[in-house]
Amino acid sequence: MIPIYYFSASGNTKYCVELVQRGFHDKNMLVELINIKSVRHLPFPDPNSLYPAIGIAFPVYEFMVPRIILIWLKKLPKAKKITPFLIIDTSGGLPCNSAGVAMDLLRQKNYEPLGVLEIPTPTAEPFFSNKYYPVGWTQEILDKCYFFGSLVANRLKKEKKDFIDLRLGRLRFARLTNYFYQYFLKGQSSSAGMLKYNPSKCNQCGACENICPMAAIDIKKLPKPFNDNRCMLCANCVRICPNHAITISYRPKKIPPSAKETPKSRPGYIDPKKYHPSSKQKHSTGYLKLLFRMMKKKS
Ligand SMILES: Cc1cc2nc3c(=O)[nH]c(=O)nc-3n(C[C@H](O)[C@H](O)[C@H](O)COP(=O)(O)O)c2cc1C
Repeated sequence: MIPIYYFSASGNTKYCVELVQRGFHDKNMLVELINIKSVRHLPFPDPNSLYPAIGIAFPVYEFMVPRIILIWLKKLPKAKKITPFLIIDTSGGLPCNSAGVAMDLLRQKNYEPLGVLEIPTPTAEPFFSNKYYPVGWTQEILDKCYFFGSLVANRLKKEKKDFIDLRLGRLRFARLTNYFYQYFLKGQSSSAGMLKYNPSKCNQCGACENICPMAAIDIKKLPKPFNDNRCMLCANCVRICPNHAITISYRPKKIPPSAKETPKSRPGYIDPKKYHPSSKQKHSTGYLKLLFRMMKKKS
């Protein structure tokens, strides 16, 4: 049995992994989908069991692995034997190097990459829709998920280890990933009003508190029940609230100077030096200087 752990806020990732699972099942290989619902109770594979492979699936948030998955990857127990792993990420089309970051963290835990699948999903504006299963999926995308499942199943059966790379493209912003991560997340967390709460509409039912994957809501803490430092803007609370007491404000935010510092203490911080070798700088400073001079001449 292959466990695939997934986090999905608006349903895209869940939909993808279900299709991948079908691909596996049609090749007579069992896959169990395990939902990562809350940082408070993170499910993990048993380090003493031998799995043919494990999988992790997540949506890309702010050009990065979402915080809940970074915490999961950090806490994942080290496998006793080298185990193949799969990564599935869904995004609005800009996954950047999220898969690479997850890959590096998994390698540190004795897992070796077997396949990566990146799925561009129809992102509803602004990033979420009320429909559980989103509309606008093309047949090509559905086929790609199913194909990935059956391809990996075949490889595992034949005990072939060659890497299946179904990433979106070679666009890798690895060196920028950490910067983007801290820029956006710190920017968001310090900008009052990203998550807007209307106490007059709230009946304190606690549905938002129960569904928040980051344990960022304490409905008793009025008038501000949200912990912005924990919130990753998945919008689960916005969707579940029966009284529409929570909304997301997409006002341009002011980035504080502190966002430019490197918060090494934050969960999931990865030293840029430890990125995948393919993300290392390819051009010498001399080459870049020459390029810069040429650009200056042209303009
Ligand atoms: C807070 C937030 C940040 C996002 N950041 C990105 C991003 O940086 N790049 C991108 O391509 N899509 C981004 N998206 C879109 C999601 O990755 C995409 O809609 C994904 O399929 C959602 O998966 P889910 O339905 O399983 O939650 C973001 C969505 C949210 C809610």
